[in-house]
Amino acid sequence: MPEGTAPPPRPAPPAAGVDPSRPRTALVLGGGSEIAAACLAALAARGLQRAHLAARRPDEATALVERAAPGLEVTATEWDATDVASHEALFARAGTELGGIDVVLCAVGMLGHHAGIDMVPADVDAMVRANFAGPAAALAVAGTALQAQGHGTIVVLSSVAGVRPRRSNYVYGSSKAGLDAFAQGLGDALHGTAVRVIVVRPGFVTSKMTEGLDPAPLATDPATVAAAVAGALGGRREVVSVPGVLGPAFGVLRNVPRRAWRAIAGDR
Ligand SMILES: NC(=O)c1ccc[n+]([C@@H]2O[C@H](COP(=O)([O-])OP(=O)(O)OC[C@H]3O[C@@H](n4cnc5c(N)ncnc54)[C@H](OP(=O)(O)O)[C@@H]3O)[C@@H](O)[C@H]2O)c1
Repeated sequence: MPEGTAPPPRPAPPAAGVDPSRPRTALVLGGGSEIAAACLAALAARGLQRAHLAARRPDEATALVERAAPGLEVTATEWDATDVASHEALFARAGTELGGIDVVLCAVGMLGHHAGIDMVPADVDAMVRANFAGPAAALAVAGTALQAQGHGTIVVLSSVAGVRPRRSNYVYGSSKAGLDAFAQGLGDALHGTAVRVIVVRPGFVTSKMTEGLDPAPLATDPATVAAAVAGALGGRREVVSVPGVLGPAFGVLRNVPRRAWRAIAGDR
């Protein structure tokens, strides 16, 4: 149900008894994301009942999720990540509609084909706001809101592109690096509370974002990322690469000398 008349508030579920590996409710930031839709489908198979989508185009986002996860109860709010003043109201509304937020999935992102040296300053600014500044501000609200309700998991879709930005996409890569560092710090700040932050770093994923691009080595699809997210909710890992081999691979690649990295990354 897109933005409109809000349904009557549901009673908040008690924190005790919420199994983090089987969330019942989810708020998606960037609700039109194909990876997020696949995540909701995977979680619906494990008992997810309701999702609230914060999306620039809530009707399209709702249709996408209804196709991916038939039977899931879906509501939506028109939302732009760069409109920082709207973030607290979003979490208040989602908390009411969902009756408590078990999972926040941050899937906001814009790539732009080969976003690097040719980007004009206004485009650089827009990308950094959309990929980093806006989502970081929303995650700050998420941390506070979930702590106040007494439980919850925050899943942040980062990227291996942020581990070592390439010359062809360093604007995207650096903005994801910023978000990744923010999410790790938030997770550390919340350590010892009932709120956990999981950073997910996919490699190339075939989705709307990468349409028209040649798949990189080890490319995956949204369902693969979704399976990793669903698995991580029940695990202890705080950073998850998809596919998993990219974790150790980028552990090495992030440390190779610059000249070697330029040769390895090429113009991809
Ligand atoms: N696809 C990949 O290869 C890949 C790899 C690593 C990480 N990731 C990350 O995974 C996440 C999901 O990506 P995806 O592959 O599912 O791509 P996607 O389908 O394009 O999803 C990205 C979503 O972010 C939304 N968005 C962009 N700017 C926004 C803003 N200012 N406010 C609110 N929403 C905004 C888009 O809205 P619209 O629907 O209105 O455009 C879109 O729904 C992103 O964070 C991305 O960086 C993707």
